[in-house]
Amino acid sequence: MRIAIASDHGGYDLKERLIPYIEGLGHAVTDLGTNNPDPTDYPIFGQKCAEYVTSGEADRGVVMCGTGIGISMAANKTKGARCALAASDEMARLASAHNKANLLALGGRTTSFENAARWIDIWLATSFDGGERHVRRVAMLDGM
Ligand code: RB5
Repeated sequence: MRIAIASDHGGYDLKERLIPYIEGLGHAVTDLGTNNPDPTDYPIFGQKCAEYVTSGEADRGVVMCGTGIGISMAANKTKGARCALAASDEMARLASAHNKANLLALGGRTTSFENAARWIDIWLATSFDGGERHVRRVAMLDGM
């Protein structure tokens, strides 16, 4: 799978640890920045990653800021982006099963590397449920 990854300074350290982890799973990772821990603005990187995914240049995206909140908000401004903030195993699972999330948001200051890696594993391994109600709701999201 082609996976794009991006963060602001709050997610930078986690991003740098996750890149080799995701590559080790056999995926091709594109790092869209930020490229250092200097303060920057999460909307830039949320938009960049969401546009990379929705344009078809990557299959999925992983975005991080301090909490994952701001960057998920930014990513979801792009039409076709379905960015889910993960804060538990169940949220990571349902992000795929119910919401068909094409981007996952994580909190660099709120999430351990071990949890982040596990939530990415769960998100990638879980298939979309495909039930009529979920298909309908995802279509409604994509129409917004
Ligand atoms: C930056 O300090 C912080 O506000 C940002 O990384 C993020 O947590 C916003 O949602």
